[in-house]
Amino acid sequence: AIERTLSIIKPDAVAKNVIGQIYSRFEGAGLKIVASRMTQLSRADAEGFYAAHKERGFFKDLVDFMVSGPVMIQVLEGENAVLAHRDLMGATDPKKAEKGTIRADFAESIDANAVHGSDAVEAAAVEIAYFFPALNVYSR
Ligand code: CMP
Repeated sequence: AIERTLSIIKPDAVAKNVIGQIYSRFEGAGLKIVASRMTQLSRADAEGFYAAHKERGFFKDLVDFMVSGPVMIQVLEGENAVLAHRDLMGATDPKKAEKGTIRADFAESIDANAVHGSDAVEAAAVEIAYFFPALNVYSR
């Protein structure tokens, strides 16, 4: 089915100047960018976005990292988009990510792991609504 997923290019990958290379991978896999916005997240933005991880030991480090520099946030649309995007990203820990994935190629650590992607269709709907009012999503 045609799905949408939320993608974030994190501060490490923005700083490395690889937004275009990552966008090319999305497009090469048939994922269409239907919304995008560069922003520097506030602590409240990052804490709200990652609220599900609030009780995890890595929460503070995660929020500190996500507010450390600008991020590029986009909505990707396409066939099976949630899983297709996860396959492009590779495992959360770049040391475990398969060769040729975004995290294997661009990420340094489990915190500075280059990209975020929604893990399920239901989560994607919540994450997309968090960053993009419906009017700012441009499907064909
Ligand atoms: P992301 O997909 O953005 O979702 C939560 C983030 O927490 C994850 O990517 C990692 O960057 C970060 N993180 C740090 N430590 C862990 C961990 N042990 N398990 C999962 N995510 C972690």
